[in-house]
Amino acid sequence: MKKKIFSGVQPTGNLHLGNYLGAIKNFVSLQKENDCIYCVVDLHAITVKQDPKELNQNTLETTATFLAAGLDYKKSIIFNQSSVSAHAEFAWVLNCVSRIGWMNRMTQFKEKAGSNKENASIGLYVYPNLMAADILLYDASHVPVGEDQKQHLEITRDIAQKFNNDFNCKNFLIVPEPLIQKEFSRIMSLKDGKKKMSKSDASEQSRINLSDDKDTIANKIKRAKTDSLPLPGKKSELSSRPELENLMNMYSSLSNNKLENVINDFQGKNFAFLKDKLTEILIEKICPIGEEIKKLLNDATYLNQVLKEGSEKAHSIASSKIEKVYDKVGFLKLKN
Ligand code: TYM
Repeated sequence: MKKKIFSGVQPTGNLHLGNYLGAIKNFVSLQKENDCIYCVVDLHAITVKQDPKELNQNTLETTATFLAAGLDYKKSIIFNQSSVSAHAEFAWVLNCVSRIGWMNRMTQFKEKAGSNKENASIGLYVYPNLMAADILLYDASHVPVGEDQKQHLEITRDIAQKFNNDFNCKNFLIVPEPLIQKEFSRIMSLKDGKKKMSKSDASEQSRINLSDDKDTIANKIKRAKTDSLPLPGKKSELSSRPELENLMNMYSSLSNNKLENVINDFQGKNFAFLKDKLTEILIEKICPIGEEIKKLLNDATYLNQVLKEGSEKAHSIASSKIEKVYDKVGFLKLKN
């Protein structure tokens, strides 16, 4: 049966290999057999300070990344969140359904707000309610994300159930399932195998950006942290060697080959061999995406057209759902 897929990516510039292997690559495989909606979540981006000009450009860049990675805007709906007003409207309703206690448990808020919570935006605090609105507006059955979004999906499920209970409308909001790929859901930093690869890491050496050229990729992989042991023959031996596990997972995902096979192929070799092979496959798979992003960014009119078409399709689904939400909540519908 066809799944209804929804997922989002923040337009915060320079998407990296974690975004690609953890999410976007999977978006592309899912579009073959399912109804997919992929959103550039600009409303989420402003929960932390943004330069307006950069936000504009980053929205185009994230759209270009979707297309360069292989999404087809005729098959999947691609749009930017702020162009469909129902997201913000529904998020307000859900702010009134969701509980403060639930928000207080969110680890991502704690990480992003850091030590100065009092100074974080209220938007950052209620971020999960907007994310729930995104997903529930489209009756999504499945949401492909990386591991770091798992808690937000759990709260989305809680919010859907509470809304259905509060307004006595069983199954009105669909309780979605997360789609988290086991081995690629947490791509780690190249400098520390226990830390997630992230845009906010101060060290450029910690991540491969999708815009990195050949030499930059080769250099980053060469300098990636390793240990001194030969490569093992069993999967169980990877767990105590996080840097090795991370590089092997990257290779496995990029080569579309099971981790067990990759381990077999590399058994007994040294790290330098794995690094050479990984560099080769990164250059083969990632550089063309980076080049295509650059090309697409030269045609803002085209990117604008893609988003416009997507927004119209998204709007027609979302506006019908928000009308039903308002009816459930009891807002008076004015007659003509
Ligand atoms: P964002 O923009 O931080 O990340 C986009 C996607 O990339 C995944 N990801 C990773 N996966 C594996 N390893 C990593 N190191 C890594 N870093 C990032 C993320 O898990 C995500 O899937 N809140 C979301 C955006 C969002 C959303 C939604 C997602 C808003 N509304 C509705 C799904 C459904 C976010 O900030 O993702």
